[in-house]
Amino acid sequence: MLGRPRLHLRTTTSTNDRARALAIAGAPHGTLVTATEQTAGRGRQGRTWTAAAGDALLMSLVLRDPPALLPLAAAVAVADAVTGTSGPEARIKWPNDVLLGGGKVAGILAEGRPQEGWTVLGIGLNVAGSAARLPERAATLGRGPGDVEPVLAAVLAALEDVLALDELEVLERFRARDALAGREVSWLGGHGRAVGVDDAGRLVVEQAGGERTALEAGEIHLRDLAE
Ligand code: BTN
Repeated sequence: MLGRPRLHLRTTTSTNDRARALAIAGAPHGTLVTATEQTAGRGRQGRTWTAAAGDALLMSLVLRDPPALLPLAAAVAVADAVTGTSGPEARIKWPNDVLLGGGKVAGILAEGRPQEGWTVLGIGLNVAGSAARLPERAATLGRGPGDVEPVLAAVLAALEDVLALDELEVLERFRARDALAGREVSWLGGHGRAVGVDDAGRLVVEQAGGERTALEAGEIHLRDLAE
């Protein structure tokens, strides 16, 4: 069961770091670390993740033998949970930024040791507070700090559901929320039009002249979400 055992910290550097230490020490599948505040929250590709104390769901799960498409599956689950709790339809900017009304409401950082069969799945979701206190282009559910726990429960339930799906179902659910399909994107090394996600979870882009390229999430830094 996801979420047990659970360690909640008032303040920590990064819940991913704490969960990682627990994973190395042998913590079981489903172990959850949450925090009210992080002093060194990390994002993908060396970015930082900031949130005012108590306003965001800050969580990291230890997952043993995670599926290959975990980063995409996690985004589908968070988007499902966000849509279920807020109403408006959440979309996903490949590989796993969850968008609400065009702004990023949640980010996901999966880090692990594949050779040891574990991954730490870190999720930051802006639940409360005003958009004015958030980084540019960020969104919030616009709820109160008291809603962080119910949102956590919704995310865990959605993750349980999505992690039980097979890869084709995950891809189908991802494609239904794909915010980039049909949009112009640029990355270090090129630009083109996103046409979708292939069966390996790579972003397929069509460049001028019709040539198609599949981009790997770990290697590609998308410069922007085309508006
Ligand atoms: C991203 O969008 O770049 C990923 C952001 C991930 C942030 C979460 S907050 C909880 C967990 N602990 C961290 O240090 N990072 C993740």
